[in-house]
Amino acid sequence: MPVSPAARRPPTSTGSEGRPVRAGTVAVLGATGKTGSAVAAAALHAGLAVRGTTRHPGQADGPAGVEWHQADALTGDGLTHALTGAEAAYLIVPNVHPAEVEMVDLVAQAATEAGVDRVVYHSVADPHDARMAHHLRKARAETVLRGVRPEAVVLRPCAYQQNLLGAALAGRLEVPYRVSAPFSLVDLGDIAEVAVAALSGQLEPGSTHVLGGPEELTVEDLARTATRVLGRPVTASSITIEQWRSGPGARTQGCALTDLLAMFEAYDQTGFTVDPTPLTHLLGRPPTTWTQLLSKETS
Ligand SMILES: NC(=O)c1ccc[n+]([C@@H]2O[C@H](COP(=O)([O-])OP(=O)(O)OC[C@H]3O[C@@H](n4cnc5c(N)ncnc54)[C@H](OP(=O)(O)O)[C@@H]3O)[C@@H](O)[C@H]2O)c1
Repeated sequence: MPVSPAARRPPTSTGSEGRPVRAGTVAVLGATGKTGSAVAAAALHAGLAVRGTTRHPGQADGPAGVEWHQADALTGDGLTHALTGAEAAYLIVPNVHPAEVEMVDLVAQAATEAGVDRVVYHSVADPHDARMAHHLRKARAETVLRGVRPEAVVLRPCAYQQNLLGAALAGRLEVPYRVSAPFSLVDLGDIAEVAVAALSGQLEPGSTHVLGGPEELTVEDLARTATRVLGRPVTASSITIEQWRSGPGARTQGCALTDLLAMFEAYDQTGFTVDPTPLTHLLGRPPTTWTQLLSKETS
């Protein structure tokens, strides 16, 4: 669903504060992060002007062409200023952040104060899964957001293919849950494409969209496919929680640690699968497969 210039709204005259609103300008919160930089890059590619927010504009590392603004969604510092003049805002909260609900509330209020026409919130698939506190926070944040901005569009992605891409390219998938658990991993590029459509006003106001990848694959399947596509061995193995805590998770503490351990337990029990049909409809084509993503890396 490429965003054609014709699909964009015509230039708007003023925001709610009477300040000029630049047509085709969108704000992406957390544009330095994994998700935000993908959304910002896709928006730029679609011809939109992109304001990226970061707490540290002097050190901001993100797609070339982003206009950086300082903003902190925890304190509210700089938010309204960063959003004023944008037609649409993409709202991303850092992963497993304990204040997700409060941050979403603050950004939604600031977007309204700034006269932003459209708000799009990056939630998660299965936000009501009570096994994971960070999913429940996203469910609460969706409710709070709808209280402030009933017309907001909510995207609920499954886990990304990109989470395991680097490890696959390095030849070793190691996860702290069983390697036979199934996942509908989704390409972050596909998510960004839908995000741009939402920012451009192409999705129904007030709608919610589950974004899942086209296949249910276990980590063993991912490794087998990567071995075939990359033409070199890629292994899959489970590590214990203790090994994860003394290795990749060594710097994770507090609420984030509790959240991630609960997530690993849920993944171990059931994996994380969702219906790929809504994403297929939104894209107007089948979502990107793991094979296609890996093939791009080899071409
Ligand atoms: N990874 C997945 O598979 C997946 C799946 C579904 C949903 N999600 C959700 O996607 C979201 C983003 O995850 P991610 O991995 O892309 O995040 P990330 O790479 O860790 O990026 C987080 C961003 O948040 C910004 N940030 C941190 N503290 C902030 C604050 N106080 N105020 C404003 N911005 C702040 C950071 O910007 P600065 O440091 O530059 O300020 C950074 O750009 C999370 O909510 C996650 O739950 C992820």
